Amino acid sequence: MDYIKINGGNPLYGSLKVQGSKNAVLPTLAATILNRGTTVLHNCPNLSDVRVTIEILKFLGCKIKRESDTVIIDAKDITNNYIPHDLMNKMRSSIIFMGAIIARTGEAAMSFPGGCELGPRPIDLHLKALKTLGVDIKESHGYIKCRLEQMVDNNVHLDFPSVGATENIMLFASLSEGKTTIYNAAREPEIEDLQCFLNEMGAKINGAGSSTIEIEGVKSFHDCTHIVIPDRIAASTYLCGAVAAGGEIELESVCPEHFSAVTSILSECGAKIETGDNSAYIKAPEIINKIDIIRTLPYPGFPTDAQSIMMSVLALANGTSIIKENIFEQRFKTAGELAKMGADISVDGKVAVIKGVKNLTGSTVYACDLRSGAALAVAALAANGTSKIFNTHFIDRGYESLHSDFKKLGADIERIYQ
Ligand code: UD1
Repeated sequence: MDYIKINGGNPLYGSLKVQGSKNAVLPTLAATILNRGTTVLHNCPNLSDVRVTIEILKFLGCKIKRESDTVIIDAKDITNNYIPHDLMNKMRSSIIFMGAIIARTGEAAMSFPGGCELGPRPIDLHLKALKTLGVDIKESHGYIKCRLEQMVDNNVHLDFPSVGATENIMLFASLSEGKTTIYNAAREPEIEDLQCFLNEMGAKINGAGSSTIEIEGVKSFHDCTHIVIPDRIAASTYLCGAVAAGGEIELESVCPEHFSAVTSILSECGAKIETGDNSAYIKAPEIINKIDIIRTLPYPGFPTDAQSIMMSVLALANGTSIIKENIFEQRFKTAGELAKMGADISVDGKVAVIKGVKNLTGSTVYACDLRSGAALAVAALAANGTSKIFNTHFIDRGYESLHSDFKKLGADIERIYQ
C-alpha cells in the first residue's frame, strides 16, 4: 500500500503555484455536455476525481483530449443518458451530472451516489428542486430515473444552501425555455466560477455569489474557453502547513479573497499574512495562539474542507481551542489519528475541544478522507520524528501532488510506492 513518509521538523520556505480548483472543475466538466460542440478548459488539475469525471464524460459519448493542464471536451454526440453504478460509486459529486444530462437529453438515469467517507450525504435537495422544475423522478432499488415532463418557469427555495444542489439546478435550468430563480443558493466561489463558465458558453445567469441566482434558459450554447479558478482549499493547506511547521512561504496563482476566512484565523493564531491580487505570503508565529471557537459554515463562513487541516494547527497552539463542525460531523474522525501523534483532542458530537500540546510525535496514521489526509500531512510536517500516512488514494482525489508541493517548500517528504 502506498504511503507518504514525512520526517517532521523542517520549517517551510519558498514559493509555490497553486493548482486549479477541484470543486470548481468538477461541475464545469459536467456542464460541458450542455454544449453540442467543443469546450476548452485551462488550469484543470490532474486529480483522481477529475479522471473519474472524464471517464463519465467519455461514457456519455464525449471525446476528450488532455494536454498538460488543458482539457478539450467534444460533446457533439451524446450517446448515453445514464451513468453506470460503478462510475457513480467512485465519486459522490457525479450527482452533478443529473441536471446536465436531463437538460441535454430530456432524460437521465443513475444510481444514488456511493457511500461516502463523510457519512450519509443525502441528495434530497437536488431531487426536490428538479421535481419543482418539472422533472418526473422515480426512485427504486437505489436507482433514480428522471424525465423532463414540462419545463415551467419556477422558483426554487433551497432549505439549505447546498453547493451541489445549486450547481445541479444551474446546469438544468440554463438550457431550458423558462426563467428560474434559486433562493437561498450556495454562495461559494465555485458557484460564481460555474456561472462565469456557463455565461461564456452563452447562458444568461446572474446573481452567483449572492443567495439569489436568476437563470434565463437559452436554447443552445456555443464553444468557449475557460480558465478554472485556483483551489482555495489547497492554498489553505499550504498556509496551515507553514504555520504548523514554521517558516515563511508565498503562494502564487491564488485568489486570497476566496480563503480569507482561513487567513483571518491564521492571523489570529499569530501568523503574519500579506495578500496581493493573486498571491499570499505567510510567516509563521513563534507561538501559535489558541482560537476560542471556529464554526464551519457555508461560504463566506469558515469552510468545512479546511476544518481538519486547521485542527492540526490548533493541536500545537498555546491553549485550548474549540471547533464546531456544522456541515459534516464525520470530519472529526481525523482527531483520532492526530491523537496517535500526541494531540489532545476530545470530540462530542459536533464539537471538538483541542488542548494544544508543545510537540507532536511522528506516527503511522491513516487518512479518513481527503482533507483528513492533508491535515495529517500538516501535523506530520510539524511533528518530531517520522510519520507514515496511509490511504493516499483519498489525498489523490484533491491534490495533484501534495508531497511534491511540500517538498518544493523544503519538507523532508516522499511518497513510497509499494
Ligand atoms: C461540496 C464540496 C465539498 C464541500 C461541501 C460544503 C464539491 C465537489 N464538494 O459538497 O468539498 O465540503 O460542498 O462546502 O464541490 N445536504 C442535504 N441534502 C442535499 C444536499 C446536501 O441534506 O440534497 C446537506 C449535506 O448532508 C451537508 C450539507 O447539506 O450536511 C452541505 O452539503 P453540500 O453543500 O450539498 O455539499 P456538496 O455539494 O456535497
